[in-house]
Amino acid sequence: MKMKQFFLGVVALSVLPVVASQVEAAQPPLKEVKAAKGHVSTANTFNRLLEKSKARNLPPAEDGIHDPDNDNTHVLQPPKIAYDGLPTTPFGNYVDWVKALDTDLLQPRYDRFDPTIEPLIMDLDIVREVKSTVPDVVFPHKPHTQWLHCSNCHPKIFIPQRKANVMNMSGILLGQQCGVCHGKVAFPVTTQSCTKCHSKPKPADWKPPQSETSLKDPWR
Ligand code: HEC
Ligand code: HEC
Ligand code: HEC
Repeated sequence: MKMKQFFLGVVALSVLPVVASQVEAAQPPLKEVKAAKGHVSTANTFNRLLEKSKARNLPPAEDGIHDPDNDNTHVLQPPKIAYDGLPTTPFGNYVDWVKALDTDLLQPRYDRFDPTIEPLIMDLDIVREVKSTVPDVVFPHKPHTQWLHCSNCHPKIFIPQRKANVMNMSGILLGQQCGVCHGKVAFPVTTQSCTKCHSKPKPADWKPPQSETSLKDPWR
């Protein structure tokens, strides 16, 4: 039995290139492929690596995140109604949540059961110097700890020690480091949001750091 499966597998593998080249030959002209794009399932529209929906803040049953077959999904307040009157941003779900909290428009609960629990707010900025011409990154603890307990980040996402963590844009865009939340539950990386994180301008006399090789051989 096992042998037969193995044999079938080998046959399938050797047939595959033939099938693939046939598929290639049978591909419809480019125009049709473009038209077919609209039929892609919307089940994964929450994934920012896929094409985004053009509509803003869809109701829960249509947002591709909540299950439309679950009756409770339809009980949830649609974002457009819930967010009415909150300060806006040009990206993400278009609400400036930090400003909304600072201006007392929201009173989040810090404990599911006990409404009297107060948040543990820490006002500590961490500057991460960036080795390229973009402004340096300031990680502000304050707006984070107004929403999140320390344990959301320490120690699993970040070791609580300045410069102890390796961070870069590729990791962030792939959903690591800051990208664990930014782009999912907090404002995303877009061409309009760079300066939210890259908020500290470089000193006027800033020069890109040079490698040991270029310091040794300055003529290079
Ligand atoms: C949203 C994520 C996040 C939350 C929540 C958070 N931190 Fe941090 N914390 C960081 C990051 C990022 C750094 C910088 C790490 C680095 O530079 O490599 C940091 C650094 C630190 C440091 C090192 C400071 C230094 O000077 O070396 C301490 C201590 C710390 N956090 C404590 C806390 C405490 C206490 C809380 C809760 C009140 C908290 N953090 C909440 C992300 C977070
Ligand atoms: C959520 C916060 C955040 C946003 C938004 C963001 N960055 Fe970054 N960026 C970082 C962090 C953190 C680093 C790593 C800094 C370090 O070296 O410690 C970084 C590093 C960089 C670097 C250095 C090279 C690299 O790839 O790591 C460049 C260039 C950069 N960002 C450009 C941008 C541009 C352009 C945008 C807007 C499209 C942007 N960033 C938006 C947080 C952010
Ligand atoms: C555990 C989740 C989480 C992580 C990890 C995280 N953030 Fe945030 N961040 C939030 C939330 C939630 C907010 C508040 C909501 C919003 O602004 O979208 C926020 C807000 C901010 C703000 C405030 C923007 C303002 O309007 O003042 C900055 C700046 C920021 N984050 C930068 C970073 C950087 C840089 C990193 C990585 C070093 C990072 N965050 C990691 C969840 C996170």
